[in-house]
Amino acid sequence: MKIALTYNLKRKDDTLPADYFSEYDSQDTINAIISALKLKGHVVEPIDVEYPSLVSYFRKNRVDMVFNIAEGKNGKFRESEVPALLDYFNIPYTGSSTFSLALAMNKALTKKILRADNIPTPKFQIFIKGNEELSPDLSFPLIVKPNCEGSAKGISKSNVVDAKEDLFKVIKDTIKMYKQEALVEEFIEGKELTVGILENGKTTVLPILEIDFSSCKNSGEYFYSWRMKEYQGNADLGLVPTFHCPARLDKETEEKVKEAALKTHRAVGCLDISRTDIRLNKNNIPYVLEINPLPGLDPKESNLPIMAYAAGMKYEDLIEAILMSASERNGLIE
Ligand SMILES: Nc1ncnc2c1ncn2[C@@H]1O[C@H](COP(=O)(O)OP(=O)(O)OP(=O)(O)O)[C@@H](O)[C@H]1O
Ligand SMILES: [Mg+2]
Repeated sequence: MKIALTYNLKRKDDTLPADYFSEYDSQDTINAIISALKLKGHVVEPIDVEYPSLVSYFRKNRVDMVFNIAEGKNGKFRESEVPALLDYFNIPYTGSSTFSLALAMNKALTKKILRADNIPTPKFQIFIKGNEELSPDLSFPLIVKPNCEGSAKGISKSNVVDAKEDLFKVIKDTIKMYKQEALVEEFIEGKELTVGILENGKTTVLPILEIDFSSCKNSGEYFYSWRMKEYQGNADLGLVPTFHCPARLDKETEEKVKEAALKTHRAVGCLDISRTDIRLNKNNIPYVLEINPLPGLDPKESNLPIMAYAAGMKYEDLIEAILMSASERNGLIE
């Protein structure tokens, strides 16, 4: 097949905020996907969606399929930008639709849909101006997050607050810094889990990944903060969490966690692949934090490839499964 790989490349620019490029992909990830596709016999054209112009490329060239990992550039629904353009040109692409990508970018809206489907998600409140009354339904500790960011942008340990006096400054700073509403939700103390779903002929829930931060105690970080994600693996900073895949769970809890992820994947209408982030509370109830329809695909660092390896897949099998699922949906293969 002739495939175009659409991506946003991570760059270095000291004039921009430190987390500016966090959602974007490294050259290593892009190279790994190109190699995997070539290994499976495809012809691949890598396209940085900023250079050259995406529009002129698709006007001039026909491809069978776009392998899309582009995070987009502008605004709160940026992951939809490239799929919207591909919809316009009627070019098939891997992964979720324009609509599901936009929906999953909005954590609060996603949570309302989860609630409607009886999928547990932490209690929450949206702050648009930052001077709204705090709902009496919420109990401390609370965590403040920008409502429409990923890669833990805007989430540090100071975003977890124990008392009302400290809450509003964090809310106002978040609104100002990320130019969007702040999501305040109950902080769930408990195991950090993430669940990958892959459509490879059938819908497969991959082995659950548990991320244990107890090995990072000296760093002062204790959850998947921006600093933890950005510098993961840096032993000098003490940011080497321990991965357990499959997660250390009893059978009943494992089934509950997998069911919550699968229901979330379906409620948001995800296609081909997704990764749902979950916290298990002390009563073993899996609370869904959010779903990522474009999970990171770094072959060494990203969570979803780690789960695929635990399922016995090689990196190229994972990439091919995503491509084949999209090809089947679009009638390119039987
Ligand atoms: N309600 C919560 N209770 C406990 N921990 C939380 C909560 N919300 C967020 N966290 C912590 O912060 C991390 C990042 O939060 P979240 O997954 O919502 O952000 P994100 O930026 O969308 O992440 P991603 O990098 O997966 O795109 C979580 O993995 C978890 O460690
Ligand atoms: Mg997350």
